[in-house]
Amino acid sequence: MRIPKEIISEIKNKAPIQDIIGNFIQVIKKGNNYVAYCPFHDDNNPSLHISVDKQIFKCFSCPPENKSSGDVFSFVMKYKHLSYVEAVKLVADMVGYQYDFGDTKIDTFEETITHKIMREAVNYCQYELNSKEGLLYKEYLNKRNIDNTIIERFQIGYNPKEDKLYSFLSKKGYKDNDIIAASLARLTNNGVRDVFFNRIMIPISDVNGNPIGFTARSIDPKVDIKYINSTDTPIFRKSNVVFNLHRAKEKIRETKFVILAEGPMDVIAFDKIGFQNTVCSMGTNTTKNQLLAIKRFTNNILLAFDGDNAGQSAILKTGKDCLQEGFDVLVLNNDTKYDPDEIINKYGTKRLSEMILKPKTWVEFIIEHYKLSYDLDNYTAKREYTFKVLEEIKKVKNNFDKQSYINKLAELTGFNVAQLASGIIGNETKKETQRISRPTSSLQSGIEIAQKIILKQLLFSANNINIYKNQLGYLPNKQFDDIAKSIINFYDQNQYIKLGELLAEIDDSQLISLLCEIESDKTHCEDEDEILLLDSIDKVKEYEIELQLEKLQARMDNYSDENMQMKVATEVVELQRRLNELRKNRR
Ligand code: GTP
Ligand code: MN
Repeated sequence: MRIPKEIISEIKNKAPIQDIIGNFIQVIKKGNNYVAYCPFHDDNNPSLHISVDKQIFKCFSCPPENKSSGDVFSFVMKYKHLSYVEAVKLVADMVGYQYDFGDTKIDTFEETITHKIMREAVNYCQYELNSKEGLLYKEYLNKRNIDNTIIERFQIGYNPKEDKLYSFLSKKGYKDNDIIAASLARLTNNGVRDVFFNRIMIPISDVNGNPIGFTARSIDPKVDIKYINSTDTPIFRKSNVVFNLHRAKEKIRETKFVILAEGPMDVIAFDKIGFQNTVCSMGTNTTKNQLLAIKRFTNNILLAFDGDNAGQSAILKTGKDCLQEGFDVLVLNNDTKYDPDEIINKYGTKRLSEMILKPKTWVEFIIEHYKLSYDLDNYTAKREYTFKVLEEIKKVKNNFDKQSYINKLAELTGFNVAQLASGIIGNETKKETQRISRPTSSLQSGIEIAQKIILKQLLFSANNINIYKNQLGYLPNKQFDDIAKSIINFYDQNQYIKLGELLAEIDDSQLISLLCEIESDKTHCEDEDEILLLDSIDKVKEYEIELQLEKLQARMDNYSDENMQMKVATEVVELQRRLNELRKNRR
């Protein structure tokens, strides 16, 4: 069942976005609107803007791969890592909106024949594990410290000798085509045969807990293929599904991190020792879609792959992909060659817990990992190593951390700290000062205030906009001019000015913050004031003339030709006349 549209808009009407967001993070009033430090990235300025008119939010400095904007539900989904329906429910709850949501949880779920077959197969295999034939397999599981509780929790089963599952499903009335489509049987020269047999069957479920596939382990060391997975079916896409996410999601939210393991047996091992926030993909390569599925629940990921070379290389690749998707990445502090399951068996539970609770940061991992491939006694190799590591340090968001990694790298390589830091820390600092730098001389600061007053006055009335258009039409400072143009454009299109709507049309975060700052600044003008506007326009004109005069003066000094000097002098006199006139008017 879906929530009716009207109900959703009623809830929305009762839930002002600024209040709902304000419930989760601190919001700051700016003019008619609000701003906040964006919770979705490391924010130095309040870059998240909340438009009261439009009832939307938009962060102007979220990284491009992780843009955040939307309505009240989008915010709650993102902030609380909820599905749409869950967010609507939570907001309804917050504003005390009474509605019987009933069974709306599995919003768009439609059970297909493949789903039905999968559930039958899971039940059948669970049953078979407890049969006489299954005893050997159950013993195998128990030997691996997988007891009955865990067997049940993970719905682990056993598929007996060839074709028993197929004939069971056939007897239940399912058609060959449907069984084949579910990837449980295939058509061979000898007719329709089982895909999985003589194997331990571990169901793979979608995020809502519906079984959609299997991963099946042989216990016979003579069998070449240790694991077989379902091939893709209408409901199972191996590259999209995250094993155990449906069981782990609550715990992930609660603990605010997810453990990504290499295979289901490791997930089970983590689960067993109390880390029920563990998931994996099938095989080592975790896709972007899988990462996005995980990201609904947390931004913090801990990579817990095998200690062998393959595992460590997989961490390198997956870690980079995770960073790309905006995760904060930690790495299991695995100083053994083993996988998590083997670590428990060889060294005990405590050892693995410690590895999880004292993880390496991404850069710590990188510093050690690349050391294996570069000989630091060789200058060229050391240089290459340094660049590789710096590339990862660059991605670190926090400047303090960045600096300490650089120190560490300097210590390790003998390169100079300042040399390493240039182009890494420098970049960000430059951008930062650019943004906050303001002209300093009194002439300039006067002109800056005049431009701010003009912009603020433009927001007040059509009359002011017309005065500005007729008398000036531009501002000397590029950013102020861009803002003026946006205001005028907006007015031309709508015949009114509403800051909230206007902000939503501006794409440049710096302009947005500048405009909000101007709008809320009460030191220079509070109300509509035509005289003040005209006076400020004159100031800008004066400033422009003064600049021109300065330029002409400099030019005059350079001319040796008397005729040219005369020509410039005439221009100077004319400009001075205009300047005096302006000054007289202003007095
Ligand atoms: P156990 O041996 O049961 O502890 O499994 P493991 O997870 O330790 O296996 P391993 O480290 O060898 O492999 C990691 C993951 O790769 C497994 O969990 C499987 O998902 C996958 N895998 C391993 N062997 C095979 C195979 O023969 N075929 C396929 N398709 N996948 C495999
Ligand atoms: Mn293993």
